[in-house]
Amino acid sequence: MFYPHDFHRVKGDLYCEGVSVERIAQAVGTPVYVYSYKTIVEHFRKLKGAFKSIRPLICFSVKANGNLAILRLLVREGAGLDIVSGGELYKARKAGCFGSRIVYASVGKRPDEIRTALGAKIFCFNVESAPELEAIDAAARRMHTVARVALRINPNVEAHTHRHITTGIAESKFGIDSKTALSLIRRHAGFPGIRMIGLHVHIGSQISRAQPFIQAIRRLAPLIHKARRLGVGLEWLNLGGGLGIVYQEHEQPQTPQAFAKAVLPPLRRLRVRLILEPGRFIVGNAGVLVTRVLYVKSGFATDDSVQTQAGRQFVVVDAGMNDLIRPALYDAYHEVIPVKAHRQTLNGQRRYHIVGPVCESADVLARDRALGELMSGDFLAILGTGAYGSTMSSNYNGRPRPAEVLVRGNEWALIRKRETLRDLIRQDVVPTQILGR
Ligand code: LLP
Repeated sequence: MFYPHDFHRVKGDLYCEGVSVERIAQAVGTPVYVYSYKTIVEHFRKLKGAFKSIRPLICFSVKANGNLAILRLLVREGAGLDIVSGGELYKARKAGCFGSRIVYASVGKRPDEIRTALGAKIFCFNVESAPELEAIDAAARRMHTVARVALRINPNVEAHTHRHITTGIAESKFGIDSKTALSLIRRHAGFPGIRMIGLHVHIGSQISRAQPFIQAIRRLAPLIHKARRLGVGLEWLNLGGGLGIVYQEHEQPQTPQAFAKAVLPPLRRLRVRLILEPGRFIVGNAGVLVTRVLYVKSGFATDDSVQTQAGRQFVVVDAGMNDLIRPALYDAYHEVIPVKAHRQTLNGQRRYHIVGPVCESADVLARDRALGELMSGDFLAILGTGAYGSTMSSNYNGRPRPAEVLVRGNEWALIRKRETLRDLIRQDVVPTQILGR
């Protein structure tokens, strides 16, 4: 794989750090997410190092990977956490994160979630609308406290990424336009339960250049100056997440150093402190999804009208779109490699569609991939699935969610048990008063 990480081959076999991936798959079963401790920590350190001159608050975005062990290791490294719900706040606290290192975004914060976050004394709410600001103000006053707030601005900047993960354009549901934000800042004295400490933007995900971020800073600068003239000393600028990673060989996302070099000068000119909310950059290529080949099935090759399909084979694996939805949802590309390389290189390359068992045509994990001959029982690793893999998984088609494993050096540990059949019905209730016995 392409950007530094700790999955590599030892005599043809895939290893995560010092541990054979096949050994983990044999021991835990498949599908299983396998993560490298070292990769996660190194990505975090790289980003922190690139910005060390201004000592930013780096809040890992829990939505990318919410496993408690991973949150805890990042918190121990000095990360804060970026949350979007009461559930993520709960996890953040369980992972040992101080409230003072938690930032909370979401267009739909419920009253109970606001109260809990106020009780936890979080660093700030990233506020996405005028009515939300009013609700937080009222809740804070009732609790005799003051909520620290960053207004999330929609800077109307095109992030040049996938339609579903662009968030900072005019038609997006996220954030507040600058005009409304200015009117809220003007009314700041009318919100005794609020202290406005900064601005927040998140323009999208998987962004490979610094330019959209610079453009966003430029759009925010006048607002910061105007706020200061109005006596509202905005000290913090939260640039959100969005740093892209390498999913395909040709991609060349900016390095943290290049990103820092580009955004530091405008930040210094604005005299603001920086918050970052990286998710994918930290964990994206620190995880792989390991799956087993169930069947190799010939494509529909008899009809002339579908000749392009001739020779194409389907590899049916035991991971599906419920375990990894990115290919189905975004047409996302994930590299697929065999866990053992020997036979694959001997017999030459075939072209395969890698499909899951879920009853949906969209359950295709990878299309038209050149791989060596595959057989039932082979293990495959789907790369770059450490972010938005496990967190977006579901029980669709009655499928228990996969296990998760963390590797550190020569050691590995289960960090999430595979769900059981019992888990599938745990919350269901059969009401005898309606259905009878
Ligand atoms: N901050 C905010 C306010 C966000 O909305 C997000 C992601 C992040 C930070 C972290 O972004 P990152 O650094 O990971 O790009 N499920 C999609 C990505 C959705 C991102 C949602 N927001 C995917 O699988 O590509």
